[in-house]
Amino acid sequence: MRVLITGGAGYIGSHTLVEVLAAGHEVHVLDSFVNASPEALARVAALAGRDFSVTEGDVRDAGLVGALVARFRPEAVIHFAALKAVDRSVADPLPYYAANVAGTVTLLEALAASPCRRFVFSSSATVYGDPAAVPVDEGQPRSATNPYGRSKLMTEQILEDLARSDPSWTVALLRYFNPVGAHPSGLIGEDPAGRPGNLMPFIAQVAVGRHASVAIYGNDYDTPDGTGMRDYLHVVDLAKAHVAAMDWAAHGGRGCAAFNLGTGRAISVLEMVRAFAEASGRPIPFTLAPRRQGDVARLYADPGKARRDLGWRAELTLREMCADAWRWQQGNPQGYRVVAEAEAEGALVGRS
Ligand code: NAD
Ligand code: WQD
Repeated sequence: MRVLITGGAGYIGSHTLVEVLAAGHEVHVLDSFVNASPEALARVAALAGRDFSVTEGDVRDAGLVGALVARFRPEAVIHFAALKAVDRSVADPLPYYAANVAGTVTLLEALAASPCRRFVFSSSATVYGDPAAVPVDEGQPRSATNPYGRSKLMTEQILEDLARSDPSWTVALLRYFNPVGAHPSGLIGEDPAGRPGNLMPFIAQVAVGRHASVAIYGNDYDTPDGTGMRDYLHVVDLAKAHVAAMDWAAHGGRGCAAFNLGTGRAISVLEMVRAFAEASGRPIPFTLAPRRQGDVARLYADPGKARRDLGWRAELTLREMCADAWRWQQGNPQGYRVVAEAEAEGALVGRS
C-alpha cells in the first residue's frame, strides 16, 4: 500500500517507518521537524535499505496537505504528528489543540476529498485518566486530566463521529501505554528536546552522565514498593502494531475501533531503575521526591483485544527495553544533535 506517515521523523514514527518499509509498503513522510531531526530519517533509510519520500511541512497547512494527498494518493495514513509534553500543554494549551486537534481535522479534510479511508491514530493510555480499575480494557470510561490528554480524547471522538457518519472509514485508535527502548541497531532512538519529562529517557541520561541522579516522584503509593507502576512496552513492538493495524484496516476491519497497546504487566519506578542499572552496568543514583501532580499509582493495559483482533502482542522484555535504550544512548549521548551540520549539507535522502 501507499502509506502516508505524519510525524514519521519522531521517536515512535521513525521506528514504525522501519517496520512499514520492511513490510514492503511505499511510504511518504510528512514532518515539520518541530520535535525531530532529519538525521533520524537518514538513519531509517540506511537501516531499511529502502528509499521513501519526505515533505517538510505542517499538518495544519491545508494547502500543503491537500496537495500532498492529491500527489501521493495514500491508501492508508498513520498519524503521529502531535505535540506531547504534558506539562507544556498545561502552561500553554493552544498550540496543543492547534497541532493535535485542528491538525488532525485538516488532515482528515484532505483525506475526505480523496479515496483514502484508512486511518491509524496515535492515541494514548492517558485517555483513561485515573482509571477505576486496572488492568484497563478499551470499554472503560474515558477522561482527561490535562490539555494534552484532552486533545487525544477530543480527537478520538472526532474520529468516532467521522466513522459513524461514513461507514467507508476504517479507523484504529491505538492507545499506547508507555513506549520505551530503541531500535536494536542503536541507530535510532528517543531524543527528547531539553530535560526529559519521562522516566526512561531521564534514567538513560543519568547512566550516560548528563544528570547526577533521577528523582523518584513518590514512594508512598499503594504499590508493592511504594513507587508508581506503568506498562512499559518496547518501541519496536509498538511499531509492529502499526503494521498490524494497517493490515486490519485493509482486510476486514470495520468502523472506528480502539486498541490498547501494552504488555499487560506493570513495572515500578524502582524496578525500572534497577533494570537499567543492570543493563547498562552503570549506577543509577536516585533521590526521593514528592509525588508529581496528576500521576496515578498504577496504570497497565488489558491488551487482549489487540491480540484477538490485530494478532499483535508485545514480545520484548524489560531487559531488552533497557539494553536497547542504553545502546542508543551510549552511541548517541547527545542524540541526533551532533550531526546537525551534516543535515544542513543535505545528507537526507529523497527529501522534497
Ligand atoms: P515525537 O515528538 O518524537 O514525534 C512527533 C513527530 O511529529 C515529530 O517528528 C514532530 O516533529 C512531528 N510534528 C509535531 N507537530 C507537527 C505538525 N504540526 N506538523 C507536522 N509534524 C509535526 O513524539 P512520539 O513520542 O514519537 O509520539 C508520536 C505520537 O504518539 C504522538 O501523537 C504522541 O502524542 C503519541 N503518544 C506518544 C507517547 C509517548 O510516550 N511517546 C505515548 C502515547 C501517545
Ligand atoms: C512514568 C513513571 C512517574 C519521571 C506520560 C504521559 C502519557 C504518555 C506517556 C503520551 C511515573 C515516574 C517519571 C521521573 C519518576 N504520553 N517518574 N521520575 O507519566 O506514565 O505517562 O508519558 O501520551 O500521557 O503522561 O510516564 O515516563 O513520565 O512516568 O519517578 O523523572 O515514572 O511518576 O510513575 P507517564 P513517565
